[in-house]
Amino acid sequence: MDQNKDIFGFNSKCSITLNEVIQFGNEKKKVARRRWAILAKALKSPTESQPSSPTDEFSVRRISSFMLLKTQELSTIPIIPAESQCIDQIKKRTWFKYSITVDEYDYFINVGHRNRTFSAEDLMGFNNTGNICIWPSEETLSYYVCSNLEKFNHKSVLELGGGMSCLAGLFAAKYGKPKRVTVTDGNKVSVDNVQVTLKCNEFETSVKCKVLKWNCYDAAEKFDVILCADCLFFDDARADLIECLWACLANDGIAYVMAPQRGNTLDNFLSQSEGKGFICKKIPNYNNIVWEKRLALLNHCDYNDNIHYPILIEVTKE
Ligand SMILES: C[S@@+](CC[C@H](N)C(=O)[O-])C[C@H]1O[C@@H](n2cnc3c(N)ncnc32)[C@H](O)[C@@H]1O
Repeated sequence: MDQNKDIFGFNSKCSITLNEVIQFGNEKKKVARRRWAILAKALKSPTESQPSSPTDEFSVRRISSFMLLKTQELSTIPIIPAESQCIDQIKKRTWFKYSITVDEYDYFINVGHRNRTFSAEDLMGFNNTGNICIWPSEETLSYYVCSNLEKFNHKSVLELGGGMSCLAGLFAAKYGKPKRVTVTDGNKVSVDNVQVTLKCNEFETSVKCKVLKWNCYDAAEKFDVILCADCLFFDDARADLIECLWACLANDGIAYVMAPQRGNTLDNFLSQSEGKGFICKKIPNYNNIVWEKRLALLNHCDYNDNIHYPILIEVTKE
């Protein structure tokens, strides 16, 4: 990620007035303040250290959540695995049930939230955005997965940049009857959290979780479906992400990439991907329920469609 740029990725070349610049600056400050508030909250002691949830009133998610995920804190650990070596890690977490309702059917995953403060190494090491919360793109991608489970039937599935939950990949694993699923992130803290989360859910299929940095992957292993949420705003890593997608996607495979427009970042991904040889289909209205949620938010004073609304891109090779 270009550390000098915030998530707006404001590098548009269009002409704007001074007033618009001032207004934009104020908006940026407001967003920056909110983001610092989330980080500050995450840095506090255990009881307040859970990442923001969809119902968290002090969160950008209050504005940008599409309220598709219900969050329920669990009073007990959901599943105690037979092997005991990870019990300590399980107990160190607060457990939440994340559920999605599609056509009156409930889908859920138990997700662990780290109860400890972040170390300096956590904060200064690899990009930490995936440990702050589950972002709206992961939320809408999870909803899309649960609404289109047939797309995962007998498929090999990879999630890239899945953050602290890899939620979309786990919904696909639990309910999509896939052949196998691998969920990944470049951040080891995120991956550790998902590995513990895997112990507290039941899957009928093989689910692996590992560190995968977009410049370091096993090109011999191909996947039929790749999921990726909110990973397009890293200007420095976008080319690596596209190379990684190309290397890991089967020739007849498909990647579902979900991200907000966020300045030029989504369009940059599209043009760079097409330059690589991918065929990209940008789909703003990919689900009626998500679209209705968007329409309802459009008049909300804090809602900014450009940075908040996750758009789906279908990426294929042929
Ligand atoms: C904004 S977060 C999104 C996390 C999750 N998908 C979500 O939407 O909640 C971006 C994720 O990309 C991961 N990431 C950033 N650069 C990466 C890279 N070069 N290789 C692998 N993962 C990377 C970060 O660790 C982070 O988890």
